[in-house]
Amino acid sequence: MTHTIDTLLDSAILKLSQVAESLQLKPRFESEILLSFVLQVSRVYLHTHNKQNVNLTQTEHFLALVDERTKGKPIEYITQSASFYEHTFYVNDSVLIPRPESEILIQKASEIITRHNIESIAEVGIGSGILSITLSLLHPQCRFFATDISQKALEVTQKNIHSLAPDSNITLKHCSLLPSSWQDIELIISNPPYICDDYPISQPLTYEPNIALFGGKDGLDILKALIVEAKNRKAFLLCEIGYDQKNALTHFLEQHNAKAIHFYKDLSGLDRGFWCRF
Ligand SMILES: C[S@@+](CC[C@H](N)C(=O)[O-])C[C@H]1O[C@@H](n2cnc3c(N)ncnc32)[C@H](O)[C@@H]1O
Repeated sequence: MTHTIDTLLDSAILKLSQVAESLQLKPRFESEILLSFVLQVSRVYLHTHNKQNVNLTQTEHFLALVDERTKGKPIEYITQSASFYEHTFYVNDSVLIPRPESEILIQKASEIITRHNIESIAEVGIGSGILSITLSLLHPQCRFFATDISQKALEVTQKNIHSLAPDSNITLKHCSLLPSSWQDIELIISNPPYICDDYPISQPLTYEPNIALFGGKDGLDILKALIVEAKNRKAFLLCEIGYDQKNALTHFLEQHNAKAIHFYKDLSGLDRGFWCRF
């Protein structure tokens, strides 16, 4: 049986409606995203060509993707793309899906870079590259040094640098935290794994890499290591944190004589990050 764009969208909307509440998805929007991905056309094209026939291979591909989505696979992993700060990043299941709240970290980093004339920035846990790549486009005069403990994540970063910021000055290294050979770092940024190891994560999060999510017994392992790292380097530090980590981090930062400690909230009013200097 031949399907048209309209009939395929109708059947996908019906299937996705059944999981819309549990997966918090918008059935029409996601059906259109998936069909435009399979047909490699824009969403507008689907509306202007709604009676067009879709061939069998494309139909089967589309229905298989709808099926994956009903099982909870994040749409970004299905389409291998995610929007962040007006750019479209390649993503796969080796990296965390960019979160909108990380755009606040970009704004805070930009303010620190501009106010203190910072030229040398290190990122721990670069993942898909959203933070360093976006900042390098906003501040092309800066040098960036970034690590990730996952080699597969670094392959994704490399791909995004190539497509989005080929002229940027970003040095990558596969290692934990920062290598001692990188000297004169003025600002360290990170959106580290900060979920407690035994926290019962929601089903969509199970698709994301554990190494990007979990930060030890209390979720603070990497955050504490970053504070020590920034202290040893007398650098500025800007990190994203979990909504319930402000008190523990304030205590640890004060113990390490951090200066000018500021916490910031996300758009839901939850504590989401801090910056300080040493
Ligand atoms: C929450 S993700 C953030 C990715 C990306 N920066 C973003 O904001 O979307 C954390 C990243 O840190 C990496 N990571 C975990 N432990 C690390 C460590 N000890 N040293 C360096 N990177 C680490 C993970 O592989 C993952 O890519």
